[in-house]
Amino acid sequence: MFIRSEFIGFGHYLPKKILTNDDLSQMVETSDEWIRTRTGIRSRHIAEDETTAEMAAKAASAALQQAKISPQDVDLIILASVTPDNTTPSSAIKVGKIIGVKAGTPAFDISAACSGFVYALTLADNMIRLGQVKTAVIIGAERLSKIVDWTDRNTCVLFGDGAGAAVLRACEGAGNSADTGVLSTCIYADGSQYDNLYTTGGVSTTQNAGFVQMNGKEVFKHAVVSLSEAAETAMKKAQVNKDDIDWLVPHQANIRIIDGVGEHLEMPKEKVIVAVDHHGNTSAASIPLAISENIESGKIHKGNLLVLTAMGAGFTWGGAVVRL
Ligand code: ACO
Repeated sequence: MFIRSEFIGFGHYLPKKILTNDDLSQMVETSDEWIRTRTGIRSRHIAEDETTAEMAAKAASAALQQAKISPQDVDLIILASVTPDNTTPSSAIKVGKIIGVKAGTPAFDISAACSGFVYALTLADNMIRLGQVKTAVIIGAERLSKIVDWTDRNTCVLFGDGAGAAVLRACEGAGNSADTGVLSTCIYADGSQYDNLYTTGGVSTTQNAGFVQMNGKEVFKHAVVSLSEAAETAMKKAQVNKDDIDWLVPHQANIRIIDGVGEHLEMPKEKVIVAVDHHGNTSAASIPLAISENIESGKIHKGNLLVLTAMGAGFTWGGAVVRL
């Protein structure tokens, strides 16, 4: 018998305020037409008075509700974010406090930018397969509006706020590609690309968070290659091929990047999940948000085989194949 981790619930949370491209054109010199044609984004959600941990807790509670388990059953919380509430303690600890997990439940944040959810999934899956925990809540949550320079049209049109969460539980499988659960994961980083996407500050440098800066063309170029390669590696490791896949769930950065990855993988457009149009880029939240929303709408079903692929600042990138 082979120990796997299976998904037993997904949840998400989006703040109420919606910022449209027309709203942005009142703030910086841009237009709905420019933003739509270059990025595919029409609108994004912006948190007004909610923090990253508060949004994460709402997504986690929704995921636990779908899983029909109590917060007391949770053995581990991993929160992926680049916009934590405080420098310390971690926002994962705050999520545990809000949702009411039992004392002693380990909780920590990870910082892997837009690849954060795939990193969190990799860690939780390995801890479950090693028998260290049985039930894990993994969350991607971001309040990127706090690290965006709202006077910089190169970046401010791209990002949004939100949270997505999943509950993973240990299950038994045969150890082959017909199993339910996480079939493969892979994660990578390359520090030579550090200066292509970063914030202008940080605790040990400027003592403040700084603002997002990026070399858009370089990010674009690497994104299509890294996202495609991570998906291919994850499928190879899981011993499945593209025809077995029901849904490609790429990080939601830009529709042109998503289309480029779909074309590279020769994945029919109707099998590619797109949420960037109404979420913008929500970094670590983008993949679980997209999955949760599409489960809620009835598009993604139990039993579906998904390939997830993400890329972000660092650069970091990674992929996973999962059967719901
Ligand atoms: N509105 C109007 N004009 C703009 C805007 C805007 N919001 N932003 C930039 N421009 C201008 C530029 O100033 C430039 O003007 P110039 O020619 O007079 O100098 C012109 O538009 C063209 O700019 P380009 O950079 O050539 O535009 P490009 O086609 O490369 O698109 C974009 C820019 C959308 C940022 C693209 O490079 C991209 O998507 N890169 C990937 C970045 C990304 O997704 N980052 C997210 C984080 S990383 C991740 O999640 C993977």
